[in-house]
Amino acid sequence: MKHLKKIIAVVLSVCMLIGCVGCSSTSSSDKKEGSKTTTKKRIIRIAHSQAETHPEHIGLLKFKKYVEEKLGDKYEVQIFPNELLGSQTKAIELTQTGAIDFVLAGTPNLENFAKVYEIFSMPYLFTSEEAYHAAMNDSAYMKKIYESTDETGLRVVTWYNVGTRNFYAKKAINTPDDLKGLKIRVQQSPASVNMANAFGAAASPMSFGEVYTAIQQGVIDGAENNELALTSNKHGEVAKYFSYNKHQMVPDVLVANLKFLDGLSADERKVFEDAAKLSTQVEEKEWNKQVKEAKEYAQKEMGVKFINVDVQAFRNKVLGVQKQMLKDNTNIRDSYKHFQTFNKKYEKEAK
Ligand code: GCU
Repeated sequence: MKHLKKIIAVVLSVCMLIGCVGCSSTSSSDKKEGSKTTTKKRIIRIAHSQAETHPEHIGLLKFKKYVEEKLGDKYEVQIFPNELLGSQTKAIELTQTGAIDFVLAGTPNLENFAKVYEIFSMPYLFTSEEAYHAAMNDSAYMKKIYESTDETGLRVVTWYNVGTRNFYAKKAINTPDDLKGLKIRVQQSPASVNMANAFGAAASPMSFGEVYTAIQQGVIDGAENNELALTSNKHGEVAKYFSYNKHQMVPDVLVANLKFLDGLSADERKVFEDAAKLSTQVEEKEWNKQVKEAKEYAQKEMGVKFINVDVQAFRNKVLGVQKQMLKDNTNIRDSYKHFQTFNKKYEKEAK
């Protein structure tokens, strides 16, 4: 499977390169019979790492539909799921060079492009899902964050909710002490590595696509993610204990090649931006539905045990990480402060 993916990725990359050499903006054409007119469409390529049933893919289908409904004579949107074009890190590089136009990635992958993105890897940054959602939907503030990667040629256009991250492993994790010595896969970012190590685990950063085999073969003992990783990515087949310790709410973001966006007319750009917003709404609705189904399926069909733990005990273990991050990275202080206003607002409302 891994080899097959690699072969597909190489073939696609070569095809894209050939496409780019001829004319960067043409890859398909409609010829009218008997007439000389040729309508050339610009192919918009989007890469992501989820399955075609995942809420994010469904959100992107909406993006495609909307763009093609409004600008179908000029643009065709192609979606490449399942890390077909490579890991998120690789796909970001492809977006940066303009070989593709968009990539959907977790914010930890952007930490190397703009240090402000470390904020989302901070354990227990948000104290409730309501606060998290309100903060992410504060578009005036988020705009500043989204523009922070401009000088690297990338611009975030929207975010997707992928729930709360939790530890899951081959053995039950009931308390933070149970993590001691366990090899736990984290996303490829220094902040995520520090967090897992602070919990007492041995952090093992690797790409998402490698996690299933790594758990199966005992290279790692477990990982951390949302419920859909168990079902959509089948990790529930190899890790049977999922603990609700809720250490992070990390958004996924749709990242565009900035040159592409800047090359659009104002009207066209609005279509793409509206399409992005719509895809977020569709994804969110689908997420809420699928997360319930995933839990039920994992429990009943895969034999996964869900454990409700003392979240405060886990939080206490990594409060030092929050402090250290704020000390080391001046770029995250403003957003940390700003996000606290949402934490306070929703804490009060809950009382
Ligand atoms: C989630 C998230 C992905 C991320 C993955 C991971 O599935 O939606 O963007 O890549 O976790 O842990 O790598």
